[in-house]
Amino acid sequence: MIPGIRGTRDILPGEAGRWRRVERAAAEVCARYGYVEVRTPVIEREELFAKGTGASTDIVQKEMYAFTDKGGERVTLRPEATPSLVRAFVEHGLDQALPFAKLYSLGPMFRYERPQKGRYRQFHQLDVEVFGIADAAVDAEVIEMASAFLTELGIAGELVINSVGCRECRPEFSAALIAALGERVSDLCGDCRRRADINPLRIFDCKVPRDQPIIEALPHSEDYLCEACRDHFAEVRGQLDAYGLPYRVSHRLVRGLDYYTRTTFEILGSGLGAQNALLGGGRYDGLVKQLGGPDRPGIGFAAGLERLVLALPEGAEDAAAVDAFVVALGDAAWGPARVLARDLRRAGLRVLADYGRRSSKSQMKRANRSGARHMLILGEDELAAGEVMVKEMATSEQRRVARDKVADALGAGAAEQAAGGGSGATSGPARVVPDPGTRRVRV
Ligand code: HAM
Repeated sequence: MIPGIRGTRDILPGEAGRWRRVERAAAEVCARYGYVEVRTPVIEREELFAKGTGASTDIVQKEMYAFTDKGGERVTLRPEATPSLVRAFVEHGLDQALPFAKLYSLGPMFRYERPQKGRYRQFHQLDVEVFGIADAAVDAEVIEMASAFLTELGIAGELVINSVGCRECRPEFSAALIAALGERVSDLCGDCRRRADINPLRIFDCKVPRDQPIIEALPHSEDYLCEACRDHFAEVRGQLDAYGLPYRVSHRLVRGLDYYTRTTFEILGSGLGAQNALLGGGRYDGLVKQLGGPDRPGIGFAAGLERLVLALPEGAEDAAAVDAFVVALGDAAWGPARVLARDLRRAGLRVLADYGRRSSKSQMKRANRSGARHMLILGEDELAAGEVMVKEMATSEQRRVARDKVADALGAGAAEQAAGGGSGATSGPARVVPDPGTRRVRV
C-alpha cells in the first residue's frame, strides 16, 4: 500500500454529505449577496505570492510548495486564493465586464505547515473578494455575509475586528512599535526579531508565551490611525451595530498576511482547539496596484472548509438517501426491472438496481443494506398485470401500484415520511409535499 501524503486527507462517503452541505451553502449565500464564481488554476508563478502574500509572511518564507518546472520556471501550488483572484481580475479586465467586481471561488490550497486538527497541508477555502469599492459599507457587508454564511450552517462563532491603518498612518505606528520595543527586541523569538525588521505589526501575531509580556505592553494601532482610517473604522462598526452583529475589537488582530490595510476580521469557532479561526479576512487597498493592476481597493475573506465541516452540527449534512431499490424476481423480469429503474431516475428519483442476475434473496439483502426507503419488486405476476409491488421498508407495508404511477407513489411516500405520516397511496409530484401549509416540505 502506498499511503497518502502527510497533511492531506481523503474525503470518504461518510463525510461527503457534510462537505456538500457546506459547499452548497457557500454557493447559495454568495449568490444572495451578488457574488459570481471564478475558478483559477491551483498552480501559479511563485512571484505572485512572493509579491502578493508578502515576503515577511510565514507562508512565503516557509510554507510554499514551490519548485522549478521542466521549463525552468519557478512555480508554486497556491497557498491562498487572494493573489490569484487579483491576477485574474487584472488579466481579464473583470471590472469592465461586471456591475460590481464581487467574486468568489472554492478550491484547494497548499501550505507546508505542521499538520494538526483543523490544519492540513492541502486544505480548501471559500474565498470571497470585492474589488473597486472603498466604502466602509462594503467592509460591513462582507463581514455580515461571512457571519450569515456560518448562521446558515448552524455554526456559532465570535467575530473579532481591528483596523491596521493605511499607507499614510502605518509607518508612524511601525516606528512607534520599534521605539517601544527598544532594546527588548533582542529578547523576542527569532520570528519576531525578523518581523521587527520587515513588518513590525506582525509581531502581534506571535504565540510564543515568553514574548507575550513584551507584546502586551506595546502601543495599539487604534491610537495611531489617521483621521480617514479612524472615520472608516467608526463607520464599519456603526454599520455592524446597525446589523445587530456583536463583535469584539482586538488590537492584536493583524492577520498573518502582509497586504492588509484598515479593516481586519476573523470569526473564531469553539471546540476546534488551537486552530479555531473559521474564517479571516480584511481590506487590502494597495494589492491590486502592487500586482500590476489599476489602483483599486479590495476586501475579502476566506473560510477554511475543513474547519466548517468539523464545526457543522450533527445531522446537518446533505443526505444521499436512496428512494428505491428495484428487485427482479426471475429471469424475465431482469430487463424490465432495469428499464423501470431508468424511468424512475428520469423522474428525478434516486434508484439502485443489482447486477449479475443474482438470486432474489441476494438482491433483497443488498436492498436492505442500501438503506433505500422502498423496495420495488417486479416478478412474473407484476409484469403480466403492468404493475409493481412497492414495499415501504420502514413499515414493511406492501401494495401493488400501476407501473406508470410508481414515481408518483414514491414521491407521495417520501412526502408522508418527511411529515411523519402513514403510508397511504395518495399520489403527488415526486419529492414535494402536496400541502405545504400543513406539512414540512422535503427538499
Ligand atoms: P488565512 O487566514 O490565511 O487568510 O486563511 C483563511 C482561513 O483558511 C483560515 O481562517 C482557516 O479557516 C483556513 N486555513 C488556513 N490555513 C489552513 C490550513 N493549513 N489548514 C486548514 N485550514 C486552513 C487567507 O487565506 C486570505 N487569503 C483571506 C483573505 C481573502 N483576505 C482577503 N481576502
